[in-house]
Amino acid sequence: MRIDILTVLPQLLESPFSASIMQRAQDKKHVEIQVHNIRDYSTNKHKNVDDYQYGGGAGMVMSIEPIALLIEKLKAERVYDEIIYMTPDGKILEQQDCNQLSLLENVMILCGHYKGVDERIRENYITKEISIGSYVLSGGELAAAVLVDAVVRLIPGVLNDETSALTDSFQDNLLSPPVYTRPPEFNGWKVPEVLLSGNTKEIEKWREEKALERTKTRRPDLLKD
Ligand code: ADE
Repeated sequence: MRIDILTVLPQLLESPFSASIMQRAQDKKHVEIQVHNIRDYSTNKHKNVDDYQYGGGAGMVMSIEPIALLIEKLKAERVYDEIIYMTPDGKILEQQDCNQLSLLENVMILCGHYKGVDERIRENYITKEISIGSYVLSGGELAAAVLVDAVVRLIPGVLNDETSALTDSFQDNLLSPPVYTRPPEFNGWKVPEVLLSGNTKEIEKWREEKALERTKTRRPDLLKD
């Protein structure tokens, strides 16, 4: 998979992809992540990437020219399956969306800033608009990092244990059950007996019960379908 991220703040996207699973996924060539600075495509002598909004009002708007130039350049190089705009008024991201995106070949992600992007970019280039939650961030970069992380870990081969993504919370509309590791007792707080029993059938049953119980109390909305 190839992911191109378009941003005015590329420095915000340096560390999220340079450690742990995200770095390994790139080293193993499961994913190629390219970050592009929109400012490099500004046609303006001051390298501006934003302007006042027509009709007046507070807040700057990301200009159409540099973004269109960059998108056109990338589109001339390969066919994109999706061109995503990170925005608080997009569809709220869910695990199902991540599953679908992880199957794609080429994805472009545009990070919004200021008051947003000139609407003509959204109308003419964007194929998907995604929000990572009902709150407003200073820009789309951290949202893009969240999206890329959630998608890349689902690409086959990225996680060591192939089954571990399948047993994630949300994959069956269920939250994950509690987990424990050594020691079996700390400060008098004990690990549930069944997990130490070696009885795989009983352990499986306990995990299913706990997953259901946790989902019922914390996220009953997941059980509605
Ligand atoms: N940009 C600003 N806030 C955002 C959000 N909640 N999701 C995606 N992009 C954003």
